Amino acid sequence: GSISGGCPFTGDNDMRKLFGRTNRDWWPDSLDLGPLTQHGQTVDPMGEDYDYCEAFNALDYTSLKEDLKALMTDSQEWWPADYGHYGPFFIRMAWHAAGTYRTGDGRGGASSGQQRFAPLNSWPDNGNLDKARRLLWPIKKKYGKHISWADLFVLTGNMAIESMGGPVFGFGGGRKDVFEPETVYWGTEEEWVDEGVATRIIPDEGKALENPLAAIQMGLIYVNPEGPGGNPHDAEGMARDMRETFARMAMNDEETVALTAGGHAFGKCHGAKPADTFGKAPEGENLHTMGFGWLTDPEEIGKGHITTSGIEGAWTPNPTEWGNDYFRLLFKYEYELTESPAGAKQWTPIDPEEADMAPDARDPNKKVPTIMTTADMALKRDPEYRKISERFRDDQAALDDAFARAWFKLTHRDMGPKVRYLGPDVPSEDLIWQDPIPAGKEASPSAVADFKAKVLDSGLTVAELVRTAFASASTYRKSDHRGGANGAHIRFDEIKNWDVNDAAEIDKVLGKLDGLRGDMSMADAIVLAGAAAVEKAAKDGGFDIEVPVSTGRGDATEDQFDSESWEPLEPFADGFRNYLRTKATVKTEDMLIDRSDLLNLSVPEMTALLGGMRVLGAVSKHADHGDTIGVLTEKPGVLSNDFFVNLLDMGTAWEVVDESGDEEFVGRCRLKGEEKWRATRTDLVFGSNSQLRAVAEVYAEDGNEEKFARDFVKAWTKVMEADRFDLEYAKYHK
Ligand code: HEM
Repeated sequence: GSISGGCPFTGDNDMRKLFGRTNRDWWPDSLDLGPLTQHGQTVDPMGEDYDYCEAFNALDYTSLKEDLKALMTDSQEWWPADYGHYGPFFIRMAWHAAGTYRTGDGRGGASSGQQRFAPLNSWPDNGNLDKARRLLWPIKKKYGKHISWADLFVLTGNMAIESMGGPVFGFGGGRKDVFEPETVYWGTEEEWVDEGVATRIIPDEGKALENPLAAIQMGLIYVNPEGPGGNPHDAEGMARDMRETFARMAMNDEETVALTAGGHAFGKCHGAKPADTFGKAPEGENLHTMGFGWLTDPEEIGKGHITTSGIEGAWTPNPTEWGNDYFRLLFKYEYELTESPAGAKQWTPIDPEEADMAPDARDPNKKVPTIMTTADMALKRDPEYRKISERFRDDQAALDDAFARAWFKLTHRDMGPKVRYLGPDVPSEDLIWQDPIPAGKEASPSAVADFKAKVLDSGLTVAELVRTAFASASTYRKSDHRGGANGAHIRFDEIKNWDVNDAAEIDKVLGKLDGLRGDMSMADAIVLAGAAAVEKAAKDGGFDIEVPVSTGRGDATEDQFDSESWEPLEPFADGFRNYLRTKATVKTEDMLIDRSDLLNLSVPEMTALLGGMRVLGAVSKHADHGDTIGVLTEKPGVLSNDFFVNLLDMGTAWEVVDESGDEEFVGRCRLKGEEKWRATRTDLVFGSNSQLRAVAEVYAEDGNEEKFARDFVKAWTKVMEADRFDLEYAKYHK
């Protein structure tokens, strides 16, 4: 099992900034495009009319694949291909593009082409992948708008595997490039891995890997290949680090073994020279190096004297051919600890037969010893990994299948529902990690109207209906497009019983809706019931506003629900329901920003949604300070701008409620001193932060009551509909 707490934002660490150490911290002198991205100006040159999915569908896919295949052996003098084949190098590029994905917050991964930007373009673990991307540039240039970098990285990895005889399960396109680095929490450390920073897991000190991080040190994709903290003798620690980090990417032991061994059937490690013989990472390099980093003498490159990881050598005698040599050698030989020319710790077979030696990367007639990294050695030193490795050694077909499936999962995990995959190579088989949902049926307008009327007549309150609909829909996260109202996963105990939810209330609401819904799906019923409640609340506030709902959601079956994979979707904090599990390592208001980002909300949308949820009384029953906290209105259940009016009222003075630290506040009448309201940090930040206050003022202003109500409904609808990729993508599957 996992040794971590499992919750993001907790751990033994000190308070931290939401996004930890950022590009500006790493490279204070790099060019700042900030002035040009103010006031909502976009950095994306493609414009509103560009539709990548449409462009991808018009791609000459077959000829792109042929070009990629030809590229594999089209060695360039400025970066010659080892063994005359770039395949292994491209597999590593694709693996590192996808390998930043972590289940904790769904961020990272291959889906937006982030490897082009800092910090990833300069992570020590991504050493020399700048060259891999530049090798691809002529092809990217040729196919232009029809293929994104993000898709190209993954497809090139697939073609590399295929061109070396490896098994491929399929390819789904549709990853849209972005044009700026995404803001992702990568950790707080101020030094990269290779500068002597300790590993993030220290069992002796009870220190677990902080969530949502999924790498063992800053600047790594997963683990240190030389062993925990660079110690090759710590076999147990090596397996622990691998197990923990791969689990954070939704990989079990079998998938971990298949991926690592399958990947290392190909290519070699590079550690020909000490690290001080090459230059800085791309982001910190001189202007005229044109985005290239880790520079070294071209003549040395020609000779194959390259240093990337510092480890030197290939794993097998046939580094450009798929096969089972990796496991064969791993078990055939005893390995001894040696050191590469760059000084890295690695393992070499004792007395290898000539036929089991590898060719030199530049001279096929020269034989050199094969190697294993300390991470590879874990596949035989750890008892659980060993069982799997032995099975794969003896069963090539099992390895083929496991590797192909794990690679497909690795590279597609962050794309969300299968309907988002495009192109002729999408596998027809449904996979459990895609959270499959049966197709639903559109409800007729009269059925919708009839159902809504019955809901409002059922005795269920606005707060109950709003809380339930929000609990269902707000599991969505745009990072990996998982969660959401479709599928009605809220019915399952594992979700219903999340601490933020009130299981008894949800049971009661779902029970009633079930009796009223006819042949409508539960997923639709929940969203429609929420819409009915919001419409009623608006009406009671004096506004006639229709809450649009597109029906046709389906209900996932138990078989389609992998409860374990949903665990990371449980919110640690939900500012919209004023819920906080416990005091965290980032400020509570930071967590509202994080959650709003995952819900794809803008600042005004976040503000309107939160203010509306409060006056509707939709605070979590398990809010630390009671289910009326932050409900700054005399008439809960009525949609009004009271939250903002009362929050900004100078007649109220706020003070900290002592017992609770700085999470709960009391608002008193400035003159008489009597208590008027209770609120949290998440409430008061809309009065204290100058930017949020500016937006809150707009919603509090006389004359903007209806604007607020309409903006709330828009933000609400955005959350309810966030996962309807079945609708959005229908036109791409014609
Ligand atoms: C290369 C470590 C998992 C595919 C390397 C290198 C290291 C390494 C140190 C040498 C880089 C260089 O110096 O050029 C690890 C560790 C892993 C892991 C510690 C996990 C515990 C994977 C996975 C894949 C993969 C999952 C793909 C499925 C490759 C390939 C190369 C490579 C193809 C050769 C690149 C080339 O020939 O240029 N890996 N790796 N590795 N890795 Fe991994």
